Amino acid sequence: MNLTIDNHPVIARDGETVLECALRHRISIPHLCTHPNLPPFGACRMCLVEIDGLRGYPASCSTPAAEGMVVRTDTEALRELRRKILELILLEHPSACLICEKKDLCEKYRPHSIKAGRATGCHTCNNKEVCEVRVLSENLGVTRLPVPPKYRDLPLERSDPFMDRDLNLCILCGRCVRICKEHHGHATIDFVQRGGKTRIGEAFGRTLLEAGCRFCGSCIDVCPTGSLADRYAKWHGAPAASKDTTCNLCPAACAIEVQTNALGRAVMAKAVNGARPICALGRFAIPEFLNSPSRLLAPMARFGDALREIRWDEALALAAEKLRFCAGGAFAFVCDTQSSTLEDRHVFQRFTREVMESPNYIEIEPDERGVARATLPHGVRAALLTGDFLDEAERASLELLVVMDCHPSLASRNAAFVFPAAVCAEIEGTCVDGKGEHRRLVKACEPPGKARPDWRIVADLAKAMGAGGFAYESAAQIAAEAGLGAATLNSEPEESPAPALDPRKRRTHFRGRRIDSVVRGLRELPVVRETGETGDKRVFPVGHDKGDLRASAGKTSQSPVSLED
Ligand code: FES
Repeated sequence: MNLTIDNHPVIARDGETVLECALRHRISIPHLCTHPNLPPFGACRMCLVEIDGLRGYPASCSTPAAEGMVVRTDTEALRELRRKILELILLEHPSACLICEKKDLCEKYRPHSIKAGRATGCHTCNNKEVCEVRVLSENLGVTRLPVPPKYRDLPLERSDPFMDRDLNLCILCGRCVRICKEHHGHATIDFVQRGGKTRIGEAFGRTLLEAGCRFCGSCIDVCPTGSLADRYAKWHGAPAASKDTTCNLCPAACAIEVQTNALGRAVMAKAVNGARPICALGRFAIPEFLNSPSRLLAPMARFGDALREIRWDEALALAAEKLRFCAGGAFAFVCDTQSSTLEDRHVFQRFTREVMESPNYIEIEPDERGVARATLPHGVRAALLTGDFLDEAERASLELLVVMDCHPSLASRNAAFVFPAAVCAEIEGTCVDGKGEHRRLVKACEPPGKARPDWRIVADLAKAMGAGGFAYESAAQIAAEAGLGAATLNSEPEESPAPALDPRKRRTHFRGRRIDSVVRGLRELPVVRETGETGDKRVFPVGHDKGDLRASAGKTSQSPVSLED
């Protein structure tokens, strides 16, 4: 279809709206309620245009493009209309900063927002740097409002495990309600109450958890203001950079975009393809998991009863010296197939076979919750673990325990040497998803302290033991040696992974350790698992497994609920 938009001849695709066609041809039309991942809604009227032969000012987001259309998007009449519409929106939005005469000076001397419970203006709004209302207001030149704005004075809502809701900033565009319906068939949230009291919320005053929220975070991603905010990321402002990688916390291996701050540390992760939701682990857990203050930051060696930080070269030399006396069947290498990449596993196998001359290379397949436990072969006296995979009796039977991990665990506390490992979005490599496809891990953020990828630690250990052939420079070099094929990002999934639709089905463990021991919000989500005696599947509130929940000790333990209940 041939159209003319602002005197430019353009070609529209079948089914395209005037707005979609204009944006694809880089012709900007202001819009608020519409979003690329949502069907047209036509609520805010910001995208009004003039079309020859049509009366009035149709909304371009809900007007299908048609052959021969002549469209004008930027006339004085349209600008005035949009200004008036925005002024009405701003009457119920904390807009003082947007129309303040001193805003340029204020911006100059106070470029970042001030932390506050609720936003009373842009200077206290966490979304200030990416707010769509603010951009529109500047583009349309709104400098005054017809009557004084009304502050709704609604309390900040923090009942959700991962999200803060400041409905004083909400402009009722409905994007959050519609994306929830789009992704999950029915919306957990909706417009509640009527008239001037209309707000976004759950029916009957329930919390998001009680209303059955799946915690995919898509509502935050489409919110044009700071009304819905990721509690962990909200004060980091606009990201300094972002990269796409794979989330390897569960076998769905979704493609995620990891956003980083100026120091290269992860501050937020979200779905690469916003048309499909990802689970709470991929959307909310990764930055908190990677930036946890409990991360292992430096190599440590045991001196007497205490583990002390030492330099990498010293730690590797000391460990190499001890391992030399445990070669052959007395040594075992234990890793799991979830957290270790194919490149890691290639180096681990070579190290076990060629350097330690041992047949005991053990790869554990974690169960559906991510729990991985290993049994050591008879006669093993020394072990190198990439996580908390041994029970107490197995650990006690060892003369030498070396642990490479990202967080402390019972294994690392009992180890003679502890090496800090870079994990997830901090490393390059290839992981295998639940369908057997190779998925690419891209280094999207910097590891903390002196943490290194597992393959590099083991290759350095091999070199410290005098072995040749371990001078790897990159994961790509190992992939080439191992003959690994191309790996891709799962950015166009056919369907949403099960944990995105039912948060009880998410994985709870990584490297043998509970993820929720460092990610607070996950502790509030229930989990499904089999009961010991009968094998029935039941819903357990997190905190029921006392054995491995040391970090969340003190939380009230409740009774399990049958899935049929
Ligand atoms: Fe078209 Fe809101 S963007 S009506």
